[in-house]
Amino acid sequence: MKFFVDTAEIKDIRELHEAGLVDGVTTNPSLIAKSGRDIKEVIKEICSVTPGPVSAEVAALDYEGMIAEGEVLAKLADNVVVKVPLTLNGLKATKTFKERGIKINVTLCFSANQALLAAKAGATYISPFLGRLDDINLDGVELIENIRQIYDNYNFDTEILAASIRSPNHVTQVALAGADVATIPTAVIRKLADHPLTNSGIEGFLKDWKGTGQSIL
Ligand code: G3P
Repeated sequence: MKFFVDTAEIKDIRELHEAGLVDGVTTNPSLIAKSGRDIKEVIKEICSVTPGPVSAEVAALDYEGMIAEGEVLAKLADNVVVKVPLTLNGLKATKTFKERGIKINVTLCFSANQALLAAKAGATYISPFLGRLDDINLDGVELIENIRQIYDNYNFDTEILAASIRSPNHVTQVALAGADVATIPTAVIRKLADHPLTNSGIEGFLKDWKGTGQSIL
């Protein structure tokens, strides 16, 4: 499973990229707002840090507006993926972008039928929002499993990009469910390496090592 980082904070992206943990980046209007930066500048900078796909979302809701904004975003760098919401206009824009050779991430997916439509329209990625379904007592992981089954039944090559990931447990669950990509907030990525037994194990080994009086260097 590929790891995308769900942030527009360049410092975090750089740090995780250096640790080999960034296969791509996703942003959305809320994350751009949080960064306090201009969308074009920040997307260009992210693309210069990582060669992987970088999702940049349109703000328009009408078809013509989505196409115009998507064209501007796609020109910022070769690795930009244009993100559109899962609406009929978004699906129509997906078809057009596909014909123009522009990669598309269809976002705000909350049902298997929506995911089926996105694949038929030619989406490169579908983004089911796990955490937001869990928030309203629905099963986000089950949605990923159902999309996996449907895409495999018909050999769709749209990649399942599990989004709205809130915990390390979500990462395990979407990996088990067969997601192609998980887009993960930086705080959750950092937590993935943590285990109390690793920490206590290190402590014990260091204590015994000191007792030997040895030095490797
Ligand atoms: O990038 C979209 C998604 O990951 C948002 O997550 O936590 O705001 O539901 P969240």
